[in-house]
Amino acid sequence: MRPQSLRSKIFLDGGDAGETRDITAILGFLDGQTTNPTLISKNPQAKERLERGGKFTEKEIFDFYRGVVKDIYELIPQGSISIEVYADPSTEADKMLAMGRDMFSWIPKAQVKLPTSKEGLKAAEQAVKEGLRINMTLCFSQEQAAAVYAATRGAKKGQVYVSPFIGRLDDRGEKGMDVIAHIIKMYRKGDGHVEVLTASVRNMDHLLCALKLGSDIITAPYAILKEWGRQGMPFPDNSYTYKPAGLEDIPYKEIDLSKNWREYDIAHDLTVKGMEKFSKDWNDLIAQPLAAR
Ligand code: E4P
Repeated sequence: MRPQSLRSKIFLDGGDAGETRDITAILGFLDGQTTNPTLISKNPQAKERLERGGKFTEKEIFDFYRGVVKDIYELIPQGSISIEVYADPSTEADKMLAMGRDMFSWIPKAQVKLPTSKEGLKAAEQAVKEGLRINMTLCFSQEQAAAVYAATRGAKKGQVYVSPFIGRLDDRGEKGMDVIAHIIKMYRKGDGHVEVLTASVRNMDHLLCALKLGSDIITAPYAILKEWGRQGMPFPDNSYTYKPAGLEDIPYKEIDLSKNWREYDIAHDLTVKGMEKFSKDWNDLIAQPLAAR
């Protein structure tokens, strides 16, 4: 059962419906799921097929992804499920949009994942006008979150998520959790149309701190949600402090949310690296990779 004090929505970060089934049973609830190309490449059936030497065609891999998403949907029909478009650093907004429109039709509560890059934001601006629900992924800075806010102005509550990736900032010595705290604080000055989805959660402390900060949504991998369930779904009390060792603080910036999204400095090397990795993992599944055409 969902703990009464829990305000954040809890999502599973994974590409295997077997995990969704287990976590739903362990927690007694699950509010949604996030998927991405890397997670789909780790799906047991995809791995088994690759081990047998059989790569997918482009059509087969999209059919496979749709099948995985539909299986997850059957298990959590009320839940939001994020589905990520193929986007390497050279993919244009129109292509992302075309894929996003298709993915949005796969299940009733799809949330289309677009990268927080210039082309991704261009696609986002148009997607919300068309009524698509979106999740802006690979966000690493307050400026990027401000651009997401500005590009999607006018969207309905629940239509837009922004996913700051904390673990990948931690990996290079920056305190990723600061970005979550700062975006939540910055968005308090806005109209509340973007929900903050804490992503790239690597340990129980990330989950507890995101709960304490009141992140709208938290997505966490199987092992962490399983452990959280085993511990009785603890919620941090007032005495809880997040003090990770050896991570550098990221300072808060005063950012005006009323500008055009193109005026914000959205460049971030981790966004580019993330797109390169997601597209590589996707292309490794395909006999004739998308980027090679
Ligand atoms: C979220 O939507 C992403 O799929 C995910 O949290 C990325 O996590 P990682 O940095 O561990 O790959």
